[in-house]
Amino acid sequence: MGKYNFDEIIPRRGTDCEKYDLLGAYFGNADAIPLWVADGDFRVPDFITAAIRKRVDHEIYAYSYRPEGYYQSIVNWQKLRHNWEVQKEMILPTEGVVLTLSALIMAFTEPGDQVVIQPPVYTPFFTCVRQTGREVVENPLKRTGDHYTFDLDDLKEKISSRTKMLILCNPHNPVGRVWTEAELLELGRICVEHNILMVSDEIHSDLVFGGYRHIPFPTLSKELADRCIVCMAPSKTFNIAGLSSSYVIIPDPAIRGQFDRFLHQLHLVNGNIIGNVALEAAYTHGSEWVDEQNDYLAENRNYLLDVLSKRMPRVRMTFTEATYLAWMDFSAYGLSEKELNHRLIHQAGIVLNKGSIYGKEGDGFFRLNFACPRSVLATALEKMAGELGR
Ligand SMILES: Cc1ncc(COP(=O)(O)O)c(C=O)c1O
Repeated sequence: MGKYNFDEIIPRRGTDCEKYDLLGAYFGNADAIPLWVADGDFRVPDFITAAIRKRVDHEIYAYSYRPEGYYQSIVNWQKLRHNWEVQKEMILPTEGVVLTLSALIMAFTEPGDQVVIQPPVYTPFFTCVRQTGREVVENPLKRTGDHYTFDLDDLKEKISSRTKMLILCNPHNPVGRVWTEAELLELGRICVEHNILMVSDEIHSDLVFGGYRHIPFPTLSKELADRCIVCMAPSKTFNIAGLSSSYVIIPDPAIRGQFDRFLHQLHLVNGNIIGNVALEAAYTHGSEWVDEQNDYLAENRNYLLDVLSKRMPRVRMTFTEATYLAWMDFSAYGLSEKELNHRLIHQAGIVLNKGSIYGKEGDGFFRLNFACPRSVLATALEKMAGELGR
């Protein structure tokens, strides 16, 4: 028994919560069990709430700045959790990873340039590129059985003189891979050879389960570190996505300077006082809590695999090495995505994310968020099994 209780059911309806309070508007079933958007149903750890309370009790929330302790907490966290020696000056705070991705695209590429992404992948990777007037180049992951790897031959074929950036998702949402050193080195080598700037979205890097280790991209080699930008945030790890607190780590001073100037043009400078306090508290006190949460999440993953094999053997789930997102192939049911989605929402009463929103490779798949108390997961799976059958 750990120190923290992840079994507690905390009502979230009526809190302007996207995951629960928009179920009716988005999916037409306000009473469904939501296993969609990627936030957790767990209580934010006490040390974060205490730090926020202390700040709130001051009763003035005027202009502030990020103190030394904010930066030091990031430096310490990266060393402790990922054995990565980050220098304070490499850190540029931002106010959300998706916002950061769009800003990076705008700062380092021109309209009409090509940006590579690796579907099935987090939907905003597509939209950030398209909405900024750049062209998406799809380098789909290769699926062998239920396992995904990079398709580097396909990548090499697709690179052109207009290809300027690659956005990597590590660990990968939705397929749950933690890319290995060998995989990352090979990918990085191709990018360096073609002068492609690597943007590595590592927002899920603290949510890695036993047997796997996250490798921050810049730790691979100095050459790769000098051509890459890492996006990070405590938001997924500590369930504080509503506080818009993220940051980039950029080892190369010239690349960093260019992005810093861009952030200043938008006056994205001081951030949100509560988000800054929360980040520092999370990274200063959060290691034990994260270990406990990861154990709980890994047990949820194992439970999910067990129920699927016993009750719904036609669903094929990719083994989730990291993230609390399960990637599941429903194609053996022989139903369209629309039909399956309708039955899950309106018959079973559960909401998952449709696989096709992550790219055409996701057709026939659904993504299930298992960051919830096990009893909620059990109820949801019971309803799913009842509706879909073996
Ligand atoms: C890979 C990835 N990047 C970014 C985000 C969201 O980041 P933010 O809420 O900071 O914009 C998510 C959320 O699911 C994600 O999975």
